[in-house]
Amino acid sequence: MGVELEKIVSLAKRRGFIYPGSEVYGGFSGFWDYGPLGVELKNNIKQLWWRMFVQERDDMCGVDAAIIMNPKAWEASGHVGGFSDPLLACKKCKRRFRADQLTGICPECGGSFSEVRQFNMMFTTSVGAGEEATTSYLRPETAGGIFVNFKNVVDSIHPKLPFGIAQVGKAFRNEIAPRDFVFRSREFEQMEIEYFMRSPDWEGSFEEWRGEVFRFIDASGIDRSLVHELEVAPEDRAHYSQRTIDFEFDFPFGRKELFGLAYRGDFDLSAHASASGVDLSYLDEQSGERFVPHVIEPSFGVDRTVLALLTCAYTEDDLGGEKRTYLKFNKAVAPIKAAVFPLLKNKPVLVAKARDVYTMLKKGIPQIMWDDNGNIGKRYRRQDEIGTPACITIDFQTLEDGTVTMRDRDTGEQVREQIGNLISQIKG
Ligand code: GAP
Repeated sequence: MGVELEKIVSLAKRRGFIYPGSEVYGGFSGFWDYGPLGVELKNNIKQLWWRMFVQERDDMCGVDAAIIMNPKAWEASGHVGGFSDPLLACKKCKRRFRADQLTGICPECGGSFSEVRQFNMMFTTSVGAGEEATTSYLRPETAGGIFVNFKNVVDSIHPKLPFGIAQVGKAFRNEIAPRDFVFRSREFEQMEIEYFMRSPDWEGSFEEWRGEVFRFIDASGIDRSLVHELEVAPEDRAHYSQRTIDFEFDFPFGRKELFGLAYRGDFDLSAHASASGVDLSYLDEQSGERFVPHVIEPSFGVDRTVLALLTCAYTEDDLGGEKRTYLKFNKAVAPIKAAVFPLLKNKPVLVAKARDVYTMLKKGIPQIMWDDNGNIGKRYRRQDEIGTPACITIDFQTLEDGTVTMRDRDTGEQVREQIGNLISQIKG
């Protein structure tokens, strides 16, 4: 049996990964705050993704568009008209539910439901003062900012088809029923790609990105055996999609969508071109052909990646006759890459030497932690619980021969290592 969600939520709070949003005010449903370890984990995920899909490829570039866009963009994209979930309200207790998750009577009080109505999930906001104010929206997907910048990117850096534009950033959805920790929240982060190509090439691009999604799954340390592809039925696809695969993951609360891959055709560019009156076609300079590219969209949720990684990494075992909990993060995503300890806190020569090693390592690898609190066993347990792959202890032998002990998180085994080899060992 897999890990229970409560254990992950509790470790995440205790060790500074994820806290309930606005907790001193009793929290705020659907909002979460990332703590010191959580922000490092999240940044590592985003950096890994950006490096793999933008920096290491010749056919990709990035943008960072404004979260609040001209509301006309969301009318054209179909979100104002159709980005909604079916809502049921209980006539007795007035609680609201997503209609697709329920049948029959209210699960809270047994009351009967009102008619199903469509509830638009976009958050509205007011831009400007007084009578001049315009109603706009917090973006429900980062994709919108990519489509409206298609022409800017083409005009400024002249990419040749096929090429993709990536964006990482916040998205907002006024979910009727936020639940399952950060799985379904009202504010979350997405890492999205719009990959533009000629329409006859869409199936090839779709297959290529299907493989790329799995490459990211492997590189981040998500266990592939817990990921399952689901071909989404036409009636369940988003309004813009002609084909969608959901990459589902076995979360502690069941098999649910982790990432998505969609073929959006030319829906978005054509819709924005006709609503704005701006030509969003592409000119192939060699053939002189002008056409609207089609697009494949791999979409990754950062918070769901965090939750999938916590689920895969959470491990309980018995080490040296003692029960322990540790996070089996790989080196790419681990928030702290190594911790440095002086064997004894009250021996200035050891502390000074450990400080030297720490400072030297931190110049090469910023995510190094200093810890001299409590006995060595306690320090190991603390680092195990936050997923630090290696612990380095400076002891009396270090002063004699320049070696330190390096302890492996998963096996608990210790080896002596030359200080000069540490950076390559930690990066390894
Ligand atoms: N641009 C396409 C799009 O937004 P989506 O399936 O609605 O498609 C893409 O969302 C990804 O964003 C999901 O696979 C998931 O990882 C993440 N996501 C969507 N809604 C979310 C929510 N309420 N909380 C956390 N992550 C969410």
